[in-house]
Amino acid sequence: MPRRIVRVLLLLIVVGGIGWYLPRSGPISVNLNVNVPLPVTVHVDNPSALPSYRQHESQHEVQEVQGLVPASSPPQKTLSSKQLSILSSITAFARYLDNALDKIAIREEKFNLLPKHQKPLAEAVGYASHFEDARTRARFNAKFLGNVADYARETYGFGPEDETNKAHWDYVFDFFGHILRDWSEEGKHERDTVFPPILKALKDGMAVIKGEKRVLVPGFGLGRLAHEIANDKDYKVDACELDYGSVIAYNYLVNQTITPFEHTLYPYLTNWQYQGTAKGRFDAVRFPDVLPTSPVHLIEGDFLTEFPESEQYDAIVTLFFIDVSENIIDFLSNIHRLLKPGGLWINLGPLKWGSFSQMQLSAEEVLDLAERLGFTVDHDSRRSIDAVYGHQVGSLLKFTYVTQFWTAHKN
Ligand SMILES: C[S@@+](CC[C@H](N)C(=O)[O-])C[C@H]1O[C@@H](n2cnc3c(N)ncnc32)[C@H](O)[C@@H]1O
Repeated sequence: MPRRIVRVLLLLIVVGGIGWYLPRSGPISVNLNVNVPLPVTVHVDNPSALPSYRQHESQHEVQEVQGLVPASSPPQKTLSSKQLSILSSITAFARYLDNALDKIAIREEKFNLLPKHQKPLAEAVGYASHFEDARTRARFNAKFLGNVADYARETYGFGPEDETNKAHWDYVFDFFGHILRDWSEEGKHERDTVFPPILKALKDGMAVIKGEKRVLVPGFGLGRLAHEIANDKDYKVDACELDYGSVIAYNYLVNQTITPFEHTLYPYLTNWQYQGTAKGRFDAVRFPDVLPTSPVHLIEGDFLTEFPESEQYDAIVTLFFIDVSENIIDFLSNIHRLLKPGGLWINLGPLKWGSFSQMQLSAEEVLDLAERLGFTVDHDSRRSIDAVYGHQVGSLLKFTYVTQFWTAHKN
């Protein structure tokens, strides 16, 4: 196999669920079926993947997509890491159906192993009919996800057939979790646990500032918190998101939605564990519960590298964010750098850390570090808040994080 292709495959594996082990340099190439406007200089920055906070922990599935690189391929083109990241997200969305049907087929194969004389019993409880039901809904999901992929191709200047030959399926399953959490009625209880303390701390902390207040939400996910903040006209909200699965889905949501609850997905149709009822597998999620119309400026890319200008923000809000860092000192230093003197940092989230994290600090240690980096922590603000993440209502599995809330000011 040509070395360039090997490099692409390796990179795609790394950008995926195990993207925590990140490549740091080197140009990459990939076969494209049609023309893509390409940069002259290729820079591979630091695409990291998001650790999923959903209870259905990601399985880090990165798979070869059959038949995507034609035998008589056009000449290889060099893609920047950003383009590759976008294209691998597009591929995962565009090829969702293959993955969903595979999963259903595996379930069905297991079912078919039942001894013949037991089949009627299984059929009597209705189990056998679920395979076809799941396939029907997978095709339904695939339409929406295909639209997201098409819209992203158009947005980023790719051709209608462009795909990578590896798909990172977790992008889609993370999207299912985020859409539930941020833009569905089912996610309201989740949002109602974590948003009010943040919004109140922001309001109290910003009361002294006259006029427009600039707020940054790094690690935006699908953006509901940023939009909730931006509902108040006094705030000018910037957000930043590294994962292009979230970015392309968000772009579609914002630009291609006319009415509330316009879209429907069946996020659990391949998820047959922990279901209380048979129909739980086919629970629908309708979204968005409200239109994302408040003005939020999304900066795509890495929060560590996308903000060259220091001291821009009156407040920075981190929700389920700081523990996705590889280097927590870099994250806290950057929050500190970006805040204006006296600026407010509000944090709410667990300390899950990844295996890739260079330090896996306790809450005490994070706050100690913050003070050493030039924050004054408001210790009275500190409390624990139990919170779930992308939780399917009615699931027989509930994973609760004891999240840590605090506020701090830049000295
Ligand atoms: C656990 S999710 C939380 C998302 C959202 N705040 C929420 O609570 O639903 C963490 C998010 O941070 C993003 N992220 C991780 N590292 C980042 C970085 N260096 N710059 C920008 N976003 C990053 C991930 O892609 C992911 O969407």
